[in-house]
Amino acid sequence: HVHDTADEASRALAREIAVLVRDRAAAGRAAVIGLATGSTPVRLYRELVRMHREEGLSFKNVVTFNLDEYHGIPRAHAESYWRFMHEQLFDHIDIPPAAVHIPDGTVPRAAVFDWCRDYERQIKEAGGIDLQILGIGRTGHIGFNEPGSGADSRTRLVTLDSMTRRDAARDFLGEANVPRHAITMGVGTILDARRIVLLAWGGAKARVIADAAEKPPSETLPASFLQQHPDATFLVDRAAASEL
Ligand code: GLP
Repeated sequence: HVHDTADEASRALAREIAVLVRDRAAAGRAAVIGLATGSTPVRLYRELVRMHREEGLSFKNVVTFNLDEYHGIPRAHAESYWRFMHEQLFDHIDIPPAAVHIPDGTVPRAAVFDWCRDYERQIKEAGGIDLQILGIGRTGHIGFNEPGSGADSRTRLVTLDSMTRRDAARDFLGEANVPRHAITMGVGTILDARRIVLLAWGGAKARVIADAAEKPPSETLPASFLQQHPDATFLVDRAAASEL
């Protein structure tokens, strides 16, 4: 779906989320939403906060699972996804703290395997993800599933691609400060969601969006596996659509 602007696209997705949340609440069920970080979903979170404040949209019946987190930095780190999610969204809405799930970047290496298996179990126990929101990296990664990630990969510790670390260098005030590893849901974990919406804005994402949508699905560009999902949408602005 191509929208004129990122703002307009973000508002459309916020409206879809509000319908999902209210429908599930009316049925006495929780809406289970998979969340992404990065600059791309910031407008969406701003709109959801506005809907909470001005339109009474409640998140009391929402359960969230974040895609990924850097490994080896504390929650309080300026660039942790835990901090990002609280500053952008969770601190401003009425979601119960126990309903928020974010991969824990502080788990010691030796315990990561069990931790990841438990994250998968918690997603299943919540009834699976109703709607997964994604951004996309210039390597074609979704979450932190870099090139080489298979369609059946699950939540795990991964090594970050050098392009991804370069792209994050500004935020971390230098490439040397960017963590080398992350915990991410796998491509298979993402594909299990009942609906997926990938967001992309701006000309810098145009090439990777065209490749992800048009090239045969392959591990060299993990976002291309979304073509095999029965209900996945790429929600883009005109600039990100320019190479389609
Ligand atoms: C990071 C995140 C991804 C995100 C990507 C793009 O690598 N792990 O989930 O999609 O950055 O970031 P941005 O939205 O800032 O372009």
